[in-house]
Amino acid sequence: MERARLKLLEEYHDPLTVGQLDAIGVGEGWSCLDVGAGGGSVTRMLAERVGSTGSVLAVDLDTSLLDELASDRVEVRRHDLLSDQLPQAAFDLVHARLLLMFLSPRLRALQQLVSAARPGGWVATIAPDFTTVALSPTSVVWQRVWSQFLDAAMTGGWDPGYGARLLGDLRAAGLVDVHAEYVARCYPSGLLPSRLLSLTVERLRDRMVLLGADSAEIDEARRLLEEPASMVTSPTTCMARGRQPGHS
Ligand SMILES: C[S@@+](CC[C@H](N)C(=O)[O-])C[C@H]1O[C@@H](n2cnc3c(N)ncnc32)[C@H](O)[C@@H]1O
Repeated sequence: MERARLKLLEEYHDPLTVGQLDAIGVGEGWSCLDVGAGGGSVTRMLAERVGSTGSVLAVDLDTSLLDELASDRVEVRRHDLLSDQLPQAAFDLVHARLLLMFLSPRLRALQQLVSAARPGGWVATIAPDFTTVALSPTSVVWQRVWSQFLDAAMTGGWDPGYGARLLGDLRAAGLVDVHAEYVARCYPSGLLPSRLLSLTVERLRDRMVLLGADSAEIDEARRLLEEPASMVTSPTTCMARGRQPGHS
């Protein structure tokens, strides 16, 4: 199930990441760090861009889906961003997608990313804002389940609205040339964004039930997400980047 969810996450976000890497100008010879690299789609993209003269370090708490990517230009390491030390002032690009919202304290985790970028180096992140999600036509069951999802997310230490804070946090972390873009889309149910949302709800099912949610209502909310008659407004995807001060 988690592998299926990661695949959909990649399918949805990879085109946005391509735009972000293009805007930064990531290319031949760059030294890149991908933190919380997950299933490795961004690591692969970076390895292709940096070519034989560049390098990519891919780190995650769980490297089981990354190990096969190790090569002469890709190094894979098990790493906990909250407790392990990253190389300092070392990378042209530090990338972290769909990671910071899960980590607390978030600003300290971001500071770890920032300090790994060399002077003039870039930090690029993507984080969702789940507070913009809507289902139309809505229903009492959907509203209750969605509210229980947000409660369960916060109880687990996630910040479901973190995307909206990303721009301010990059500035607070001392980055310059900070830029952010936001994408929210409205789709008929059953397509990739609502399937992804449905699997994300499933991921928190146990915690939601512990907090009093009714499992049958969770099933019904997931069915609504997959029923073609409804329209779903996706989480807003917040893409932000900034540079370490200093030479570029
Ligand atoms: C939602 S997945 C995103 C994966 C990938 N960045 C992507 O966008 O396709 C979050 C990833 O962050 C990793 N992660 C969670 N906490 C972490 C930590 N403290 N340090 C490093 N990685 C972490 C998880 O193991 C998981 O692979």
